[in-house]
Amino acid sequence: MKVLIHETQGTAADCVAGLFAERLAQQPETVLGLATGGTMETVYERLIARFQAGEMSLAKARSFNLDEYVGLPPDHPCSYWHYMREKLFNHVDLRPDHAFLPKGDAPDAEAEAARYEAAIVDAGDIGLQLLGLGANGHIGFNEPTSSLTSLTRIKTLTRSTREANARYFETFDDVPRLAITMGIGTIMRAQEVVLLAFGAGKAEVVAQMIEGPVSAACPASILQMHRKVTVVLDQAAASRLA
Ligand code: F6R
Repeated sequence: MKVLIHETQGTAADCVAGLFAERLAQQPETVLGLATGGTMETVYERLIARFQAGEMSLAKARSFNLDEYVGLPPDHPCSYWHYMREKLFNHVDLRPDHAFLPKGDAPDAEAEAARYEAAIVDAGDIGLQLLGLGANGHIGFNEPTSSLTSLTRIKTLTRSTREANARYFETFDDVPRLAITMGIGTIMRAQEVVLLAFGAGKAEVVAQMIEGPVSAACPASILQMHRKVTVVLDQAAASRLA
């Protein structure tokens, strides 16, 4: 596990955008694994800037997002489909038919999860996976106690995750209770993983992920077993490392 500690969130996001651009230059048809959430917003801004400057193209890439809320259709303003269109897809040259997220409003969510897992396998698995980190150690929506070999499936969100994400919804009760998420096993099959965490609120869980035991109590700790992981932190998120 390579750990890069940056002065600011801006330089950390630049670094991640640089890793993306490098990978796409080497292998334009890379299968990207994408994440949503606050941490990713600066990264997507930086990727858009690189695209607009003619330094990076997603024209041959494909992308699979980590997760989607069960029950939210793609046009719902709080869906991850909506987030991705607003924050990235509408501003770069990724083909719309090459961008995939689980369908939150599929009539059979379990079947949709199985279909999504199969689609990732068919694409040859993820080449470069981008991850944020939940304050409870989740990656994707693999909450603590998730099986460390799990595949894409439905997960019940913890209260703390629903509280953390309530800022995107009108009320806490509007935050869905279930999500379809890539499994930890799905994520671990990625050739390369880049995890990004910012702020003092993540410092404790960052230390657990990097220095603690590998445990389902902190799902991100399984990344210690992955052969190619880069963790990109700002100073505050790194402040509890030994
Ligand atoms: C998002 C996702 C989550 C977030 C995590 C951190 O698709 O799967 O694991 O990456 O909850 O979210 P922020 O960045 O909002 O702190």
